[in-house]
Amino acid sequence: MRKAKIAVLVSGGGTNLQALLDAEQSGVLTSGEIVLVVSNNAKAYALQRAEKAGVETAVLTGKGFEDALRQLLAERGIDLIILAGFMRILSEDFTSAWPNRILNVHPSLIPAFCGKGYYGLRVHEEALARGVKVTGATVHFVNEIPDGGEIILQKAVDVLPGDTPELLQKRVMEQAEWILLPQAAELVSKGVLK
Ligand code: GAR
Repeated sequence: MRKAKIAVLVSGGGTNLQALLDAEQSGVLTSGEIVLVVSNNAKAYALQRAEKAGVETAVLTGKGFEDALRQLLAERGIDLIILAGFMRILSEDFTSAWPNRILNVHPSLIPAFCGKGYYGLRVHEEALARGVKVTGATVHFVNEIPDGGEIILQKAVDVLPGDTPELLQKRVMEQAEWILLPQAAELVSKGVLK
């Protein structure tokens, strides 16, 4: 059976990448296979996770990032791109070439706490500062507007008394991101194959 070829773009720890790799093992992700992991940061622990799973890795940095990425994606016959903790904004030129073929996971219920400047721990700091009682995660398609593409899946997570940004980040990952991202990857991979 043909599977959608997935490239995952990362910048840091790679727990969402790990959730995708685990989902392939557990049978949650069956319509797609992760064949390439690209980081814009040579020190990203995500690269080690990929290597451990036997997945090809590449580190691309600097001004030529998108050109090098385009070439690599074409050479590997990639069908679908997943941004999993990828901390660089892709140009409109790039995103418009991949309509409904780039997914991103964002650690809030979009349209809250999203857009330019909202990434990683920052999102949870802002949610706590605003005093929301419920937050969550969103998986969406990527277009030219940061965090502005069509929403695919969302899941709510409670904010609890005594939460720190780190505690809240961990809960949102465990209860939402690591569940939603593999589900969305399967959903979109299935669509790609049709
Ligand atoms: C995750 O919480 C992800 O949603 C967020 O960064 C973290 C990366 O963790 N992404 C963004 O904020 C993108 N705007 P990970 O490297 O362990 O997957």
